[in-house]
Amino acid sequence: MSGSECDIDLAAGRMPFPDGSVTAVVMQHVVEHLELHGQLIPFLRELRRICAEDAVLWISCPDLAKICAAYTADRGQALKDDRCQRWPDYSLGGAPVQQFINDLFQARGRHRNLFDLELLTWALGQAGFPVAERVEEADLLAAHPEFPPRHDDEQSLYVRVCKSR
Ligand SMILES: C[S@@+](CC[C@H](N)C(=O)[O-])C[C@H]1O[C@@H](n2cnc3c(N)ncnc32)[C@H](O)[C@@H]1O
Repeated sequence: MSGSECDIDLAAGRMPFPDGSVTAVVMQHVVEHLELHGQLIPFLRELRRICAEDAVLWISCPDLAKICAAYTADRGQALKDDRCQRWPDYSLGGAPVQQFINDLFQARGRHRNLFDLELLTWALGQAGFPVAERVEEADLLAAHPEFPPRHDDEQSLYVRVCKSR
């Protein structure tokens, strides 16, 4: 992961940590960068292996349901306005506003797979995790105040999942 203390390719299928050695996981806008069957599910299985029995995972990613609803509602105008408030330099280069929906899906080639709650819960289930609970960014920040706020509930899915129920 770029800019982190550990240089690990999450798509490689192997994490250099012992079984049960991790007590908390926070992944914000990472899972959508991995291909579903060949990368993400093997990665989630590795994650489950390295997690302690009482480990809690917090995951956020673009929300497929919110993005599709935004296109239907106003071709993504409200979501794009929200992005521009948070990232003042953001630009569609003059393209009509629905191009923002493409950007959320593709992120200029960096996104491999978007999720709604059902699909992310299914992927976690393939790796042996129990059903994920939908939460909000505030819940994550209350548990982990060391993370900077993203203020992105409007376009993101936040879930909490425990290794064991
Ligand atoms: C949109 S950024 C999110 C960064 C940060 N978590 C945040 O919330 O601002 C996506 C992150 O996923 C990481 N990433 C994507 N694919 C990866 C892979 N195969 N292995 C490791 N990290 C990966 C990128 O390096 C980048 O840090």
